[in-house]
Amino acid sequence: MKNTEVPLPVRGMRDFVGADARTFHHVVDRLQTVVCRYGFSPIEMPLVEFTSLFVRSLGDTSDVVDKEMFTFEDRSGQSISLRPEGTASAVRALITNKLTQTLPQKWSYYGPMFRYDRPQKGRYRQFYQFGVEDLGASGPLSDVEAISMAMEGVQSLGINGATLFINSIGDAATRADYRAKLVAYFEAYKGDLSEDSQRRLTVNPLRILDSKDAKDQELVRGAPQISGSFTPEAARFFDRVKEGLAALGLTFKLDPCLVRGLDYYDHTTFEIKAPVGEGSTLLAVVGGGRYNGLVEQMGGPSVPAVGWAAGLDRLMLAVEAPAVEVPPVAVLFVGEAEDVAALQGAHRLRGLVQNPVLMPAEGNLAKRMKMSDRAGALCVFLIGEDELKTGQLKVKFLRSTGEFEEGAECVVAETELAAWTAQHLSPLTKPE
Ligand code: HAM
Repeated sequence: MKNTEVPLPVRGMRDFVGADARTFHHVVDRLQTVVCRYGFSPIEMPLVEFTSLFVRSLGDTSDVVDKEMFTFEDRSGQSISLRPEGTASAVRALITNKLTQTLPQKWSYYGPMFRYDRPQKGRYRQFYQFGVEDLGASGPLSDVEAISMAMEGVQSLGINGATLFINSIGDAATRADYRAKLVAYFEAYKGDLSEDSQRRLTVNPLRILDSKDAKDQELVRGAPQISGSFTPEAARFFDRVKEGLAALGLTFKLDPCLVRGLDYYDHTTFEIKAPVGEGSTLLAVVGGGRYNGLVEQMGGPSVPAVGWAAGLDRLMLAVEAPAVEVPPVAVLFVGEAEDVAALQGAHRLRGLVQNPVLMPAEGNLAKRMKMSDRAGALCVFLIGEDELKTGQLKVKFLRSTGEFEEGAECVVAETELAAWTAQHLSPLTKPE
């Protein structure tokens, strides 16, 4: 029996169709172009990893691991998870591929990530990131370069009003001192903290600074700041980052609560927020920072590193769909019966022009003309018996160009096709 149930996508997952798909690839292309100019090369990584990879790297008390992972048992009973982010896999790939002695490795990647969060505008369960990881980068100027590259990426998309927020969570000694001060402070208000933050107080007090709960936030305002716990090294490192940003003319806001939700960071943390969507809500479009301890923690040698990831779904909300760069043209057979001459004509044109060459083959000529128009065709090449006999093609313009009015028609000799297309369409190679 026929199953008439309409299939639905899984909650928080969606398709990109038409202009959305164009925007997606436009955003990826722009970011790829920018990071390529900083010497970053693409890496492809699996969408699934052993669950333990994420638990060990992001931390079992992080919201991502604690509440948001898509975790399954595979057929051999191993626990695997859909990747919620890319840094853990990049570090794993560095170790697996024995590249820890071949540094730096400057990698870029993009693709779907999965987090089981409450879906809303700008937050999805399958979302897309474009990320970079600069593995082996030790100095503060690498952080500056990473940040400036992220800003350039956002600006290359024509997004106005992007703001850079930075912080430093110092080195391990800084955080140990700060943790003690935070615990002492929050202990006095324990009863007023949200349930989540009461738990954080014992397992990871820094996370309280990140709480979205209004009451928690009020208490956070009076909490000691991490700069009071900086070791001289941590303070110097952060000063160098700020000086470097200033030297590049990059303005930033200091956000002492920017501790980030993943466990692997130390020293610099940063986010870029931009107005996105109809209400111009300020959302984090890029997040990143330094993670000097992660490679060693995952079983490799000590490899300092810095990186970031941009949320492509959010960037897409902030940019216009790009215009189609090279409009298509269409080849239509004039008669009722399908004609292989149109197939050959389209084939020949594809060897001459950059314009996509369509060959609508459904319905009568009027319908095929309409389909060409709907596809945005600049002109149609008409091929019929007469044209085949005389070796002359009829071209009809469906849109105005600098030279032809909409509706204009002209006749092109088949022998002149290469010269004609070179002059009036977008030739594959520019004539000498
Ligand atoms: P993250 O801050 O968790 O960092 O994610 C980076 C960006 O991904 C966010 O700023 C946001 O734009 C986007 N994003 C996160 N979750 C969602 C969601 N559910 N829906 C839509 N967009 C989302 C990381 O993932 C780190 N791996 C970044 C990094 C790389 N740090 C060092 N290297």
